[in-house]
Amino acid sequence: MQKSLAACVCGALIVSAAAMPARAADDIQSRVQVCAGCHGQNGVPINSATPIIWGQEANYLYKELHDYHSGDRANPFMASVATMFTLPELRQVADYFAAKQWPAPAHAGNPGEAPKQASKQAPKSAEMCKACHQPNFQGGAPAPRLAGLSYDYLLTSMNAFADSRRTNNLDMPGFMKALSEADREAIARYLSAL
Ligand code: HEC
Ligand code: HEC
Repeated sequence: MQKSLAACVCGALIVSAAAMPARAADDIQSRVQVCAGCHGQNGVPINSATPIIWGQEANYLYKELHDYHSGDRANPFMASVATMFTLPELRQVADYFAAKQWPAPAHAGNPGEAPKQASKQAPKSAEMCKACHQPNFQGGAPAPRLAGLSYDYLLTSMNAFADSRRTNNLDMPGFMKALSEADREAIARYLSAL
């Protein structure tokens, strides 16, 4: 009697321990539904001010969520969303979105609106970015993907670094200050067309 009870309890513990990681993943999956309201159900954001996060570099996603959580990167929407999670949960959230597929170019940016600012012209000033953002601008360990982000988001983030409004990286403000506004516009046109 005692023995079978112990076996039963022990069995139940093993079953619940095995179910735990799956449950944690399910939990994250249901809690990230809130993100789709802005970043899109299928990875295409609702407007051009909201960046694509599907398929972005995992470490970069985590670092940004961490920075919104701590206030190192200021944005009222993202601060309230990021502080709904603990840092270990934000790591899971980052991995969840990094594992998704970056949306096809035709669907990125402003849905239904032609990317009027896009340009195939590669500006000379975009050469030096490749060292970190990678030759195809699809990102890697040192820096995030830029290829296919919207013109509006790219220009806003470059200007935010240039004006020292975004200070959560030591290198980017200097690089952006060194460029003219026309250069930054040309780069945003080019990167949004990739
Ligand atoms: C109310 C709309 C809204 C919701 C909901 C929202 N976001 Fe955002 N998110 C934004 C906007 C707008 C930005 C750009 C803010 C900025 O410029 O700093 C952003 C930026 C980000 C970035 C930075 C991306 C980059 O390329 O730098 C990440 C990562 C991110 N969001 C993840 C999430 C996750 C994960 C969720 C859900 C847990 C979420 N967001 C929910 C609007 C939203
Ligand atoms: C030394 C490496 C390095 C070089 C060179 C570099 N970057 Fe970056 N860049 C980064 C890193 C790292 C980040 C992420 C910063 C953070 O933590 O938020 C970043 C972020 C960005 C972002 C914001 C992306 C987003 O989703 O919000 C843009 C836009 C950008 N870089 C454009 C450029 C352009 C254009 C150039 C060339 C003129 C360039 N970078 C050169 C390392 C670099």
